[in-house]
Amino acid sequence: MTRTGRIAGIEACVFDAYGTLFDVNSAAQKCADILGDHLGPLNEVWRAKQLQYTWLRSLMGQHADFWQVTGEALDFALAARGIEDMGLRERLMGLYLKLTPFPEVAGVLRRLRQAGLHTAILSNGAPGMLDAAVHSAGLADLLDDVLSIEAAGIYKPHPRSYGVACDRLGLAAGDICFQSANAWDVAGAAAFGFHVVWVNRYAQPRERLPAGPEAEVESLAALPQLLGLGNA
Ligand code: LAC
Repeated sequence: MTRTGRIAGIEACVFDAYGTLFDVNSAAQKCADILGDHLGPLNEVWRAKQLQYTWLRSLMGQHADFWQVTGEALDFALAARGIEDMGLRERLMGLYLKLTPFPEVAGVLRRLRQAGLHTAILSNGAPGMLDAAVHSAGLADLLDDVLSIEAAGIYKPHPRSYGVACDRLGLAAGDICFQSANAWDVAGAAAFGFHVVWVNRYAQPRERLPAGPEAEVESLAALPQLLGLGNA
């Protein structure tokens, strides 16, 4: 199939997982009745700490997998809100294995595969948690590979973490289009050499970092057209 979109000549579409395919706020949302006014602030601190801990652990040379980091970030966020409830903690962690996918995701993955593109996830997530989220969201048959940075032992945006996709798919960075809703991840992936699409779901300003995206979209629904696939 000939593809003549703005981003041409790629073999694979590789996706960030959390925030890009899966709505990270959906776990706490499902406990909104218990959390009440804590919901918004808890979500914000949980995600912020989760990411900070990945960067800090990478700088410290103290890697632990994303399941542990996610739990430790939740412990911080609950403590910051003065919440002591082990049952709630366990429930939120369980729900993190069943995050809601964004509504356009399945249709877009299907379209990309129909067009002969390889589809994959490359995420900080530990293999077990990614597998659980992918299956719970019904995406297993739409993804050719689910890759974790655990294979590199260091978090994004370290170049070695992005290199996992090249190694496992047997492709050069320039053969891959990487999609992320996380602007810092976009910068890391672009600096590594991927073609990069920023899924700017929350209308954030651009990061002031050395590399940026080739295209910016509001949701993944715009991706097939960017790649020259038109509508299904
Ligand atoms: C991931 C985080 C960064 O899925 O959202 O890798």
